[in-house]
Amino acid sequence: MKVGVIFGGKSGEHEVSLQSAKSVMDALDPLQYTIVPIGITRDGRWQVGKGAIKALETAKVAESKGTTQSPKNYINSTVGGLTPASTTRSVDMLPPALVNEIDVAIPVLHGTYGEDGSIQGLLELVGVPYVGAGILASAVGLDKIVMKQMFAAVGIPQVRYVAFTRSQWRTNPEELLDLVERQLAYPCFVKPANLGSSVGISKVKSREQLAEAIALAAQYDRKMIVEQGLDVREIEVAVLGNDRPMVSVAGEIIPSNEFYDYEAKYVGGHSKLIIPAELSDEQREKVEHYAVAAFQAIDCSGLARVDFFIERATGRVLVNEINTMPGFTRYSMYPKLWEASGMSYGKLLDHLIQLALE
Ligand code: ADP
Ligand code: DAL
Ligand code: MG
Repeated sequence: MKVGVIFGGKSGEHEVSLQSAKSVMDALDPLQYTIVPIGITRDGRWQVGKGAIKALETAKVAESKGTTQSPKNYINSTVGGLTPASTTRSVDMLPPALVNEIDVAIPVLHGTYGEDGSIQGLLELVGVPYVGAGILASAVGLDKIVMKQMFAAVGIPQVRYVAFTRSQWRTNPEELLDLVERQLAYPCFVKPANLGSSVGISKVKSREQLAEAIALAAQYDRKMIVEQGLDVREIEVAVLGNDRPMVSVAGEIIPSNEFYDYEAKYVGGHSKLIIPAELSDEQREKVEHYAVAAFQAIDCSGLARVDFFIERATGRVLVNEINTMPGFTRYSMYPKLWEASGMSYGKLLDHLIQLALE
């Protein structure tokens, strides 16, 4: 079977995708699958074939020398349908491989233009089955505001938040700061609506920091969210399946920084994953119940990692978010949770491919 592994992409999580895709390609059983690597550069050009990962990594080195945007400063001004005229028209450059040469695709893309329904739409158009969530679940899952609305509709408990647009912020910043301060107490978390890997997220403890953090988030997205910051344990579970999803054991993250920011996730390597997480029976039941509820609330399929907060002061179990293409390196939480539940990394990939072909 020919499997197109798609990676990179026009996203602040481009590098994370390269790492996930390397692990996936190393683990796909060569006796069962012929891998067709399909890379997408940060500016949306497609590269097919063995050299694709290397080509993207070389591009990354060139970027860090200042020839173009650096990954962490990648400003995504194109989410939410506001595509500037200068954006690369990458559709003309679609590799024929995408249409003619693969039986199934694994879009190992995180964040914008990958985990947001866009690549899923393209694969639907060309008629290629693919691993993971469809257009709707991908788009809803990536947008923290719409995601929270869908969760609220089915009674999933969440933190308090205030959501607004960049234009609301620019029109009357003082009024917006007043609104946030009326609704929430410090510390708060300020987030761009459509991103991942903590890119553009700040924890703020004063009005001045709040204003700076909103200005930063506004560079990444036209929609933003400010959440009540809580003192929490961070618990994650893996969901796998289509109409009858299974839930893995739960894991806990102990971030190496004040919160689980980009550095704590990928740079220092000092954050700890504890699997299985120590939970009371009641907490475990809630986590399992809400994981499936969250998966179904956005009409998800294939896989997702559902991330929880357990408030230390009260023991309340809250859903933080759903990730429809969670980090997928060998050391990432999603595959580790399945390993601890009895499914190896390779078998997990086989299972995901089967689910894509169902
Ligand atoms: P991303 O989609 O980029 O992973 P998250 O919403 O998961 O963004 O936030 C990233 C991290 O920030 C979380 O894992 C957690 O460490 C911290 N965080 C986010 N929101 C809150 C909150 N409301 N209270 C406490 N910590 C938070
Ligand atoms: N967005 C990253 C890849 C994750 O949630 O694992
Ligand atoms: Mg997260």
